[in-house]
Amino acid sequence: MGFISLTTEVPGPRSREVMDRLRRYVPKGVSVQAPVAVAAASGALVTDVDGNTYIDLTGGIGVLNVGHAPDPVVRAVRDQTGRFLHTDFTIAPYDVYVRLAQRLAEAAPGPGPKKACFFNSGAEAVENAVKFARLATGRQAVIAFEGAFHGRTLMALSLTSKPRPYKEGMGPFAPEVYRVPFAYCYRCPLRLEYPGCGVACAEALDRAFSTMVSPSDTAAVIVEPVQGEGGFVVPPPEFLPRIEEICRRHGVLLIADEIQTGFYRTGRRFACERFGLAPDLVTVAKSLAAGLPLSGVVGRAEVMDAAREGNIGGTYVGNPVACAAALAALDIMEGEDLARRAEELGRFLADRCRAMQEKYALVGDVRALGAMVGMELVLDRATKEPATRETAQVLQECLRRGVLVPRCGLYGNVIRFLNPLTMPREQLAEALDVIEGVVAEVDAAVRQAGGGAGT
Ligand SMILES: Cc1ncc(COP(=O)(O)O)c(C=O)c1O
Repeated sequence: MGFISLTTEVPGPRSREVMDRLRRYVPKGVSVQAPVAVAAASGALVTDVDGNTYIDLTGGIGVLNVGHAPDPVVRAVRDQTGRFLHTDFTIAPYDVYVRLAQRLAEAAPGPGPKKACFFNSGAEAVENAVKFARLATGRQAVIAFEGAFHGRTLMALSLTSKPRPYKEGMGPFAPEVYRVPFAYCYRCPLRLEYPGCGVACAEALDRAFSTMVSPSDTAAVIVEPVQGEGGFVVPPPEFLPRIEEICRRHGVLLIADEIQTGFYRTGRRFACERFGLAPDLVTVAKSLAAGLPLSGVVGRAEVMDAAREGNIGGTYVGNPVACAAALAALDIMEGEDLARRAEELGRFLADRCRAMQEKYALVGDVRALGAMVGMELVLDRATKEPATRETAQVLQECLRRGVLVPRCGLYGNVIRFLNPLTMPREQLAEALDVIEGVVAEVDAAVRQAGGGAGT
């Protein structure tokens, strides 16, 4: 017997009733991928209000590396809620925050003493990382990458690159943001081939300091070690060390946005460790607190101490319940050897995706680093025309068959996996069987409609 259990059509009548009210009272901009109302969730399984159980590979978009509602996190939250809910850390501090800061400061990549402070969302962490970088350098400009996603608040959205659906109509954006290409080898911006290219795209950063903005005006370069929303784009191993070297040469700070890559998604606590990077600042969020809203900036003490008293804060930042959840989540990650489990699940996932790539021309590219695995769907392998509509079909059909799958990519054509790293392999195998069945059908339909050659 499998883990998926569907007792009504999807969505069922109760979910449809919730969706009717949702459409009436919640604005359209808050769009919903799966029109099923959740009643309960545990591990990698989600049960809706009609009693249907799905395998969830979205992990709440990278938030649930330790799964839905693990017992130790729930216990820690209950315990903290029984003590106190809020003081405002800047009025009266509390030890769970300080213990979490110590733990992250001791774990952050790179040498030397570190400090950490906390916020609510990933975007807020990005905003504050930029504040620290500006205060530490006395400079204003920030350089980000094509395909980057850093959040939806003003500075974070200005650093984000994808117009639709994030930026269109939202301007004006923050000034002094510059952009250079990322090493997206499947769609190389320079139309070169790796490794013969010598990772020439990295040199665009060096050139930007002559053609766009002076290093003496540049506070920082911000980069996702593996691009998340941009399409699970894994750069070649030389790319990020080259970026770091260029930053160092020009005296510009490096901010690693590990909001999606952090906490073992790539098989290491931080993806920076996979590339040997020592960033000045790291932003964290998502899986940090296993579902409670918490984000943070961790970095070199001298950079973080450039902020003056009162520069950094916010009423709710570093909420004690969220900090308690994070400490319990970190215990699970370390106690259950999530690095090893991520590597194992990642290998299994990537092998299954590569096997699909061999069979179905629809699967144009498979990219993987640890358990950060994505499959880019194309209509034609020669032209690489993005299969955007077909990717949406795959998602919809997977849901109807009991699997929640997220997508990403500049063209919305990358199926990504953000499943809990604690999930049993049999659950993942069952979900992959469903995905493969759907991919096979969509691939056949594309071929039948005269879709491109499957080379
Ligand atoms: C790399 C990265 N940075 C920043 C963010 C923004 O985080 P939040 O949605 O919590 O504001 C995200 C969210 O997907 C992300 O993936």
